[in-house]
Amino acid sequence: MTNTNRSVLRSVASFLPARVVSNEELSARLDTSDSWIRERTGIGQRYIAEEGQLTSDLAVEAARLALSRAGVQAGAIDLILVATATPDNTFPATATAVMRKLGAGPCMAFDVQAVCAGFAYALTIADSLIRTRQVRHALVIGAETFSRILDWEDRTTCVLFGDGAGAVVLTAGGHDEHKGILACAASADGRFYDDLYVDGGPSSTGTVGHLRMNGREVFRHAVSRLAGAALEVVEAAGLTIGDVDWLVPHQANIRIIDAVGKRLGVPAERTVVTLESHGNTSAASIPLALDTAWSDGRIKGGDLVLMNAMGGGFSWGAVLARI
Ligand code: UT7
Repeated sequence: MTNTNRSVLRSVASFLPARVVSNEELSARLDTSDSWIRERTGIGQRYIAEEGQLTSDLAVEAARLALSRAGVQAGAIDLILVATATPDNTFPATATAVMRKLGAGPCMAFDVQAVCAGFAYALTIADSLIRTRQVRHALVIGAETFSRILDWEDRTTCVLFGDGAGAVVLTAGGHDEHKGILACAASADGRFYDDLYVDGGPSSTGTVGHLRMNGREVFRHAVSRLAGAALEVVEAAGLTIGDVDWLVPHQANIRIIDAVGKRLGVPAERTVVTLESHGNTSAASIPLALDTAWSDGRIKGGDLVLMNAMGGGFSWGAVLARI
């Protein structure tokens, strides 16, 4: 296959707020327990943003580090995408707040709202803008402050989520046909709108609202959608699951990750799991996991990395990239 203008992942970085909230801390004020949370989800703790610490603050820390690791100046970026369901304000886009804080731009900048699938969607969009030569350097961020939309009295949801951010720098890769994003898939099915949603918003209630979830229904669909999207991108690239070095899935529940791994035939040793320490950080979970495994040396240059995610909408997606 001749490469025209593939998007190469130049760097990844992430940022977590300082405050750690353990399962024990939640158990002290809710009818839950460390053992329930660990056994049913795989989560041991989560990070929670300080009051006044915004999604853009987390995003910009991850972005600065990603730019410095890539050796790309903020002024050279011509696309900023922030995948988030927890923007600083209803508008303007959190991507423009990140731009201002970085001293970047003027350039194209907008938010991508596909909840937990947001990072896969944002990579898909950035990749297509790079391939069509409208963009050379893209900063793609997943950043969330889900703590702000949780009902802290609802044990069925509040124990699951955390705050954080991750960022990648994508660059038009020239003609190295081995590196870069090989295939993307993104889709949604609005019939499931009510299974995972926030019961507020500027047009419906004029309030911010709280996350509501039909956990069992989400779980049931997650396994088939995540596995389906993964197979779709592998087949589109003319490869097989056996070629994949690392599965970097959205981190929602260890039982979902294990079930998807089994269905695909990817062993646990080749799956990156950060749930225990990060919880579910929605759009930030894939870049946080990618940074963890890239920084600790598990993911190396030349590795084939498969990322997949599913969340509210339902929305789902997958991206296959050669690092
Ligand atoms: O990132 C977006 C995508 N989100 C997801 O992928 C989440 C998908 N869903 C899930 O991960 C799981 O469905 C949950 C972790 C949310 C729930 O696990 P589950 O095994 O499906 O539990 P369940 O909802 O069937 O509840 C089992 C029991 C219930 O009690 P009863 O009715 O059997 O007496 C719940 O009330 O566990 C109870 N329960 C809890 N107990 C202690 C629910 N939450 C808690 C809790 N602590 N935090």
